Amino acid sequence: MQWQQQTCLLTGATGGIGQAIAQALANKGVRLILQGRSESRLQALSRSLPGEHKILVADITTIQGREKICSMAELNAISMLINNAGVGQFSLLEDTEETVIVDTLEANLLAPILLTQALLPVLQKTNQRQVIPSYLVNIGSAFGSIGFAGQSIYCASKFGLRGFTEALYRELADTNVHVSYFAPRATATSINSDQAMAMNNALGNHVDSPEDVAQALIQQLEKGHARQFVGFPETLFVKINGAFPHIADKALLKKLPIIKRFLRPKKDVEHTTQEVLS
Ligand SMILES: NC(=O)c1ccc[n+]([C@@H]2O[C@H](COP(=O)([O-])OP(=O)(O)OC[C@H]3O[C@@H](n4cnc5c(N)ncnc54)[C@H](OP(=O)(O)O)[C@@H]3O)[C@@H](O)[C@H]2O)c1
Repeated sequence: MQWQQQTCLLTGATGGIGQAIAQALANKGVRLILQGRSESRLQALSRSLPGEHKILVADITTIQGREKICSMAELNAISMLINNAGVGQFSLLEDTEETVIVDTLEANLLAPILLTQALLPVLQKTNQRQVIPSYLVNIGSAFGSIGFAGQSIYCASKFGLRGFTEALYRELADTNVHVSYFAPRATATSINSDQAMAMNNALGNHVDSPEDVAQALIQQLEKGHARQFVGFPETLFVKINGAFPHIADKALLKKLPIIKRFLRPKKDVEHTTQEVLS
């Protein structure tokens, strides 16, 4: 991996995992285009990194935002695109607003697909000019392989992103564009609400630091692996869920009462408690 020859467009650079990836890549000598929605946070991040980097304020879910991103990427002849921006969802389907469903699918699935399609010619052009490989990384999730109660829309978006990445990996296998899928498990960032973090705690789920996650991504890129799942036992559970989903169904059924305790709106829990008491 020739890090110092890379120019990387990183979406969601101001988030928890995004900042850690930006730091890890900048330490390797990668030139970055840091994308986010807050100019002040992007400036602060850029100032904190070694090397010279650019910032880009844009919303990936709008046509204008994606056009801005594409112009900047073309101008700087990017050789790496990391689709990292994303949003979370933590609610029963029956309690989930339609706007949350649409926004989650747009940010986590539709926008990365459209950005990838628009930027593929840039990644391929860079290859021809500089004769170096280029890289596309989609940041998925353990919940892109494990359906989890209370995160049905998030799971749908990340399952979709994993399928898209795998198909594209196979479609571009005879080109110099290296496609990879990187799936963290729970990580300590603001994408997880307080309720989601409390649930992780109650379930005994391990929560990684963004810095450890970023190092795992660096290792994946160095090894050239197409897929990388972070952390044991989640990596094993992903395999079990794929091969023997009924075993995963049973294991997760046992956890459902705990999960629902954190999902149900507080007033409902109080209401149910009163009903039980009366
Ligand atoms: N943390 C976890 O537990 C975990 C686990 C597995 C996978 N992941 C994945 O890791 C990635 C990064 O998540 P994170 O944990 O770092 O979350 P985060 O701290 O909430 O950061 C999310 C980033 O995405 C950006 N973003 C969201 N919607 C956007 C939009 N419409 N246009 C442009 N930027 C947008 C945010 O920008 P603003 O600051 O402007 O909102 C922020 O920079 C996501 O794809 C997530 O699904 C996270």
